[in-house]
Amino acid sequence: MSEFIIDTKNLNFSYNKTHQDIENMEINVPKGSIYGFLGPNGAGKSTTIRLILGLLKKHSGTVALFGQKYDEKTRTDILSKVGALIENPSLYEHLNAVDNLRIAANYRQDISPARIDEVLEIVNLAGARKKKVKEYSLGMKQRLGLAISLLSNPELIILDEPTNGLDPKGIIEMRALIIDLNKKLGTTIFISSHLLSEIERTCTHVGIIRNGKMVYQDTVAALKESKGKNIVIDIEVDNFIEAMRVLENLKKENASLLDNFLQIEVENKEEITKVIDALRAQKINIYQVSIKNNLEDLFLSLTEN
Ligand SMILES: Nc1ncnc2c1ncn2[C@@H]1O[C@H](COP(=O)(O)OP(=O)(O)O)[C@@H](O)[C@H]1O
Ligand SMILES: [Mg+2]
Repeated sequence: MSEFIIDTKNLNFSYNKTHQDIENMEINVPKGSIYGFLGPNGAGKSTTIRLILGLLKKHSGTVALFGQKYDEKTRTDILSKVGALIENPSLYEHLNAVDNLRIAANYRQDISPARIDEVLEIVNLAGARKKKVKEYSLGMKQRLGLAISLLSNPELIILDEPTNGLDPKGIIEMRALIIDLNKKLGTTIFISSHLLSEIERTCTHVGIIRNGKMVYQDTVAALKESKGKNIVIDIEVDNFIEAMRVLENLKKENASLLDNFLQIEVENKEEITKVIDALRAQKINIYQVSIKNNLEDLFLSLTEN
């Protein structure tokens, strides 16, 4: 039996004969993880999610959830343990949150009225429970959608780009909510995004896809490790000729000049202070120091054609 909550093998799918949209997709989502499914727009994230949920018919390969392959007969049973939020949740705009949840509860089995209050509490909408959904912000609608998917107390939650279109406050709230669900209830979470920064902050595991193929799958810690240990920093100075000389004295021969910014590699944070001290000792003005996110470069190199 598989130790993975989602386990796909050789998953293949195409919308039409001219193009293979999903190719030999192998996804391994460990129990209790927050798994980030990362890829540029059009890479095949939504399509893969539909295949996992059986909303599209795969051409070949297997999908196992909770260690069980499912078929037409067992699908409903297995999917009752999965909460999914894909695209915009279908909500009744003229009704309030409680009524939306009541209607959704009717489609599911054995949902107690108390559970409706519980899920509203979890997604921080208890205070807005009687407000009509048409008066909700997009972030609130998204959280109500999540509340609906939580009704049956799922062991696995699948979210397709849940922060798309949200404002910064909405993004932070959604991110905190996801981490909370995972920590407090141990819920396994599968979340797709086209933004590395989103996955880097929230997830324990990552799968990066490109053109329908998995190109990297591991823990987020391993991904960070693989970018190399050195830190690349950009420094804006007033006198870069003098600054280059200072850096040469510091044995920073790999310094380069890029659009008025000096770019150098250092081995650790302490070295950043040393470089700044040496520049200031020569009265060189420093206007800006920033650490370059080379994880972003790695992501681009993995996903660009
Ligand atoms: N309903 C559809 N019919 C035909 N092609 C589609 C359909 N939906 C998506 N595609 C194509 O499948 C590929 C993957 O799309 P999608 O899964 O939506 O990517 P993502 O969610 O990563 O942005 C793209 O090339 C897209 O154009
Ligand atoms: Mg999509």
